[in-house]
Amino acid sequence: MSNNYTIAPRVLIETYGCQMNVNDSEVVLAILSKVGYVLCKEASLADLVLINTCAIRDNAEQRILGRLDFFRLEKKRRPSLVVGVIGCMAERLKEKLLDHPVVDLVAGPDAYRDLPRLLEALRAGDGKQINTLLSHEETYGDISPVRMDPNGVSAYISIMRGCNNVCSYCVVPYTRGAERSRDCDSILREAREAIDAGYKEIILLGQNVDSYKFGEVGFAQLLARVAELSPSVRVRFSTSHPKDMKDEVLLTMAAYPNICKHIHLPVQSGSNAMLEKMRRRHTREWYLERVARIREIMPDCSITTDVITGFCGETEADFEDTLRLFRQVRFDAAFMFQYSERPGTLAQRHYPDDVPPEVKTERLNRIIALQNELSAESNRRDVGREFEVLIEGFSKRSTADLMGRTSQNKACVFPAAGHAKGEYVTVRVLDSTPATLICEVVE
Ligand code: 5AD
Ligand code: SF4
Repeated sequence: MSNNYTIAPRVLIETYGCQMNVNDSEVVLAILSKVGYVLCKEASLADLVLINTCAIRDNAEQRILGRLDFFRLEKKRRPSLVVGVIGCMAERLKEKLLDHPVVDLVAGPDAYRDLPRLLEALRAGDGKQINTLLSHEETYGDISPVRMDPNGVSAYISIMRGCNNVCSYCVVPYTRGAERSRDCDSILREAREAIDAGYKEIILLGQNVDSYKFGEVGFAQLLARVAELSPSVRVRFSTSHPKDMKDEVLLTMAAYPNICKHIHLPVQSGSNAMLEKMRRRHTREWYLERVARIREIMPDCSITTDVITGFCGETEADFEDTLRLFRQVRFDAAFMFQYSERPGTLAQRHYPDDVPPEVKTERLNRIIALQNELSAESNRRDVGREFEVLIEGFSKRSTADLMGRTSQNKACVFPAAGHAKGEYVTVRVLDSTPATLICEVVE
């Protein structure tokens, strides 16, 4: 161990943002474990706090700044506490974050291998430390993530990093750099390790999984290889891009019962004028054709989406196109956001953020209300049907009930009666809410 702690130093890692960040935190823990750190869950006991941050919308960053204020108090009580900011906001703000009185260390998403050196330099008294270099090669392919929840059911595996799409509203290409695919063998090795450790579900992650390419292996082949590791382990993936989602992937999903029948296919807007300005590089018609193809190949596949209200220049008519598209597709669920201008993006440089905040909010509320109806309808259609679910744990409300998900990623709640997490059970849907299927165990 290359430090002079008498007992193992304790690190608390707080994660904000997407699933990719959750997985990155596990990679960071793996790197720090190698130099002697142990995970700790309480701020008051930590020697090192790392905040793995998100920069996608302004409110994500505001929340993190609030958290830094909290650690400022903690540090007043214990001046030896080291506080680091890592992840997307670290990459976006770079040195500016070092001006914050509580921040000792800043590291971007491609600099995690350097954390031990940065921490060592801090300990040696070399002052605040920063590394925000982005890489064209780094995939952390050889690092086995240390799962934060070792009894877990689902394991995240990153299959690629970065993004080459440059959607005009999005900060991610700037915070995560250029797209690169991870070595297929290292993905399969990690999936095998997770299965051997008892995980029942593998979730493959990438900003745009459809553009995965390593040598001859594309996403469809990778998906098939992971699915073949074990028929009793489910495979999920996220996120698909409508412009790149190929029939080959749909046919592979249909061919393997253990590949979950769920596609997260962000649409962002139903208006061609907005899609053009967003630089999504597909039209509304193209999107609807992809949805039709999914349903033709897999009639039981669920489709979820992301949408942004109040993007630059969005008119009421543009927004109504989005509402109409939602009604047409009948999404099973959606993540809905109001547009937040991000410094440095194409939209920020070229288009005025001219939809008034109250209009953004009003449109957001309207689409949320519509999606609630659509989710409720989607769930009502399942009443009376039977599904195989993978149990994830107790329901939020009570330990007398368990929660598990269908292949379509819908949450089912049912009486615990002798079952436990990690098991598959068949349930019949008795009733539903917009968010949950209320079930009984069959047999
Ligand atoms: N403002 C609002 N929402 C955004 N998203 C990405 N960038 C922005 C932004 N600047 C949304 C998109 C994306 C999801 C992860 O976050 O819908 O799919
Ligand atoms: Fe994830 Fe995007 Fe947030 Fe980065 S900015 S943590 S990639 S959601």
